[in-house]
Amino acid sequence: MENIRKEIDALKKRIEYHNQRYYTLDDPEISDANYDKLFQRLLKLEKQHPELESTGSPTRKVGAGPKGGFLPVEHGSPMLSLENCFDHQQVLDFDKRVRKFLGDTMPVSYTVEPKIDGLAVELIYENGALRVASTRGDGRVGENVTRNIKTILNVPLQLTTRKKSLPVPDLLEVRGEVYMDMAAFETLNRKRAANNETLFANPRNAAAGSLRQLDSRITAKRPLDMFCYGVGNAQDLPFETHWDLMISLQQWGLRVNRPHIHICDTPDDVVKSCRLLEETRKDFPYEIDGAVIKVNRLDLQSRLGLKSRSPRWAMAYKFAPSQETTTVLGIHVQVGRTGALTPVAHLEPVALGGVLVSRATLHNQEEIDRKDVRQGDRVIVQRAGDVIPEVVKTVLSQRTGKEIKFVMPEACPVCGSGTLKKPGEVVARCPNINCPAQVRGSLRHFVSKGGMKIDGLGDKVIFKLMDKGLVKDESDLYTLTRKDLLSLENIKEKAATNLLGAIEGSKTPTLARFIYALGIRHVGEFTAALLADHFKDIKALENADQEVLSAIEGIGPQTAESLFSFFTDTQNTALIDRLLAAGIRPVVGSSKPPDSPAAGKIFVLTGSLPTIKRSEAKETITQKGGRVGSSVSRNTDYLVAGEAPGSKLQKARELGTSILDEAQFLELLGA
Ligand code: IVH
Repeated sequence: MENIRKEIDALKKRIEYHNQRYYTLDDPEISDANYDKLFQRLLKLEKQHPELESTGSPTRKVGAGPKGGFLPVEHGSPMLSLENCFDHQQVLDFDKRVRKFLGDTMPVSYTVEPKIDGLAVELIYENGALRVASTRGDGRVGENVTRNIKTILNVPLQLTTRKKSLPVPDLLEVRGEVYMDMAAFETLNRKRAANNETLFANPRNAAAGSLRQLDSRITAKRPLDMFCYGVGNAQDLPFETHWDLMISLQQWGLRVNRPHIHICDTPDDVVKSCRLLEETRKDFPYEIDGAVIKVNRLDLQSRLGLKSRSPRWAMAYKFAPSQETTTVLGIHVQVGRTGALTPVAHLEPVALGGVLVSRATLHNQEEIDRKDVRQGDRVIVQRAGDVIPEVVKTVLSQRTGKEIKFVMPEACPVCGSGTLKKPGEVVARCPNINCPAQVRGSLRHFVSKGGMKIDGLGDKVIFKLMDKGLVKDESDLYTLTRKDLLSLENIKEKAATNLLGAIEGSKTPTLARFIYALGIRHVGEFTAALLADHFKDIKALENADQEVLSAIEGIGPQTAESLFSFFTDTQNTALIDRLLAAGIRPVVGSSKPPDSPAAGKIFVLTGSLPTIKRSEAKETITQKGGRVGSSVSRNTDYLVAGEAPGSKLQKARELGTSILDEAQFLELLGA
């Protein structure tokens, strides 16, 4: 019993400490998933040993105290937290508990909506005018952030009604989540990195840090958004359901996440909706960390009532974590197809978004220095969507002093050539195009789905073929014999037959695929299709000079230069000749450029973009099949707005044109 008491005390202290870091300082030291684990453990121990439970436990409290510098605001009714569950069975158990509590046999209808990863705020509207806005604080008293909230464009200062039968109430306590979308977060962090400022660990911290500024001019510069998800005084309003309430908030001019609120009439539907949100999580432009399940009928909500920390009528279904804390076992350097040296952290394996992760990219030396990542460090890693996992930050408070600093090698770790860094570039490169790592990368690209599409030629087989000296470049693939393949470890008759068949079958690629497969810098699938369409023959492309190339619509100067230097290198033209001699016959015709969201769209640029030049932006647009317009009109599809935008921004707002910042623009174009 004494041990359990000690564990409970230790857990309480740790949770309180992390509450401070998260809620008060906006600078968490552990992943949300690890925090949840501590919290669940404490809940379990307290449940098993009610005699040891004390009133001060963090399991009975919400959030943490104010940061200082803000005036306190007492909430009209407490702003609570949500109980969490982590699997579908627990969702079904929640429904059972709800029905048992109500003592009804009737099924209960629920709403399921995204749980936005931001910070909770309350807006008080009196006679339609925004009077006070506050953070949640400890649930009872929050911080007055009215001036800052007023800088958020989609928070109305005055409510109006769009329906006569739905007058704006005298008093409305609206609650919702303030957040920063992912693109804005990335742009902000990129700017901070350029100014040597500390980075925000995630959009939630960026949103909290931005809202809790004593100078509201700083908040005004940060692109925050808000979704409203409820009210504090529902009992005073004439609505029957949470859904009706949401629709009415929208009618009064408040922003609600309407397309993503699902009404579910059975517990199975609830599970399905939770699953759908989890599966589509990566398609949201902002971070969602779970689904919130709410009893739809407001009278049932009041019958169910509240517990000390959370309402009985709602539950959060938390998704598998996309951030975790783990240890850096080592830092190794990888050499890619273009010779770029990338440091990679080898990690103690952790589950991220349902996948076991044991490596994370560290990008380059500058990035390592900025995050101060060392071998032996505890780090927070994250995986967003399908992208490569990356290290978010180092947990400095857990340093032992034994960690080892990383220094980028001066020589390529694969072939030993001295590395080079172009002026203005952060990436170090191996200059040896015969470096086995570059050859391996080129082979991988050559056989890939967008290129020659040779199934069965995975990394391992490529490695073995190179190791045995059977393949030195792409053309050697076409002289491989059955005997060669059977000499490789683990390759039996059937695999050899299949592979030979796949190699033979790849001999008539479209010209576009063939051009793409060559791996020329700046030539993706779209540009390759454009070139194929224009030249219709690889030799014609090979002989084109730079002016001819850059005169092609969609080919900018950078790509033209890259193509020209590729084809003036006789090693490359000799390789093409060997491939043609091996029987490759590129087919002209069906090389329609693949669909790109930019295809056929008109973009207008305004202001200076933070990281890319205007000429590069234009080139990317045309490469992807879009057009660049000079002024905003009804025909404009997108306005790309940088810093100090001109009158085009105002015009785009008036016309309702979609406005993108640089990060959103790059994301749309997949650049
Ligand atoms: S309803 C009584 N709906 O999640 C609390 N909360 O961990 C009712 N959150 O404090 C909250 N999205 O800040 C609700 N669609 C949503 C939400 C949401 C995010 C946050 C909210 C709350 C926290 C609970």
